[in-house]
Amino acid sequence: MKTFIEGLPKAELHLHIEGTFEPELMFEIARRNNISIPFNSVKEIEEAYQFDCLQDFLDIYYQGAGVLITERDFYDLTYSYLEKCADQNVKHTEIMFDPQTHTERGIAFSTVINGIHKACKDAKNNLGVSSILIMSFLRHLSEEEAFNTLKESLPFKDWITAVGLDSSEKGNPPSKFKNVFEASVKEGYIPLAHAGEEGDADYVWEALDILRIIRIDHGNNSLQDPVLVDEIVKREIALTVCPLSNKALQVVPDLKDHPLKKMMDSGMKVTVNSDDPAYFGGQVNQNFIEIQKALELTKKDLYQLAKNSFEYSLLNRDSKEKYLAELDAYYQQNIGK
Ligand code: HPA
Ligand code: ZN
Repeated sequence: MKTFIEGLPKAELHLHIEGTFEPELMFEIARRNNISIPFNSVKEIEEAYQFDCLQDFLDIYYQGAGVLITERDFYDLTYSYLEKCADQNVKHTEIMFDPQTHTERGIAFSTVINGIHKACKDAKNNLGVSSILIMSFLRHLSEEEAFNTLKESLPFKDWITAVGLDSSEKGNPPSKFKNVFEASVKEGYIPLAHAGEEGDADYVWEALDILRIIRIDHGNNSLQDPVLVDEIVKREIALTVCPLSNKALQVVPDLKDHPLKKMMDSGMKVTVNSDDPAYFGGQVNQNFIEIQKALELTKKDLYQLAKNSFEYSLLNRDSKEKYLAELDAYYQQNIGK
């Protein structure tokens, strides 16, 4: 199964670029920027990555991102993730970035986006990995601040495909961002949001009906409400599920309790993703490997998950067809092995 997973062509649809910051690179960038971090070794950093909940993680994640200063830093961070995509047969990735994590510290929006965009362009040419950018608003900040970010993004509109909503979910419902999502859609951005990771099913309802999102990040707590599940199935809204993240942030007690298979069986369109791989113990292939084992997924299940990753990506129909054909050929060749 491991070999089958490693070779499987796939897309990653839920990935925070700031969450790919591996300790080694963090040390290197901190050193060249003359910034001290409160850790003495990679081992110390890894030991600090024990989380009780989302907020616990976010505190350390924002701290880590604080060493990113120059365009080159954002380039290196992004390129290093895209190299990992190439190694894992991730053909396409939809990368979230949190501009406010950086602009709040005085880093220019242009520094962030120029570095990330250039790395994506180089990776397409050098590694054959395609990517799309999702600009995420931090939901613990105000809607007015999100509006400022939207405005700052407009000169770079051609490089950004969608808007997202992340950070502390509880107490920051999707409805708080109704107006800025409306304005974002008017500018041509596709609306996406985290919902139902720690928040209840009513947050997922709000994300669907008020923000009009076309894909749900996480969505675990949708299962609290059978009417919502039916609606998600009916509207064909895909879920970007992140098994190792859910385990690390104690959204599920154990991978064996993970609802991924239940979601699939209920007709929901599920994908597997790494969320913040540097913090949660594995890249996307490791997520596939561990969830396959925990839930005894079949090759057919894995094929379906990979198929969904292309089908519910933000790519155009032609690109989807190209990747789906590649996936089908792989599946036919490897199904019996
Ligand atoms: N949830 C919410 N916000 C985030 C996450 C997440 O899993 N990762 C990075 N920001
Ligand atoms: Zn996320």
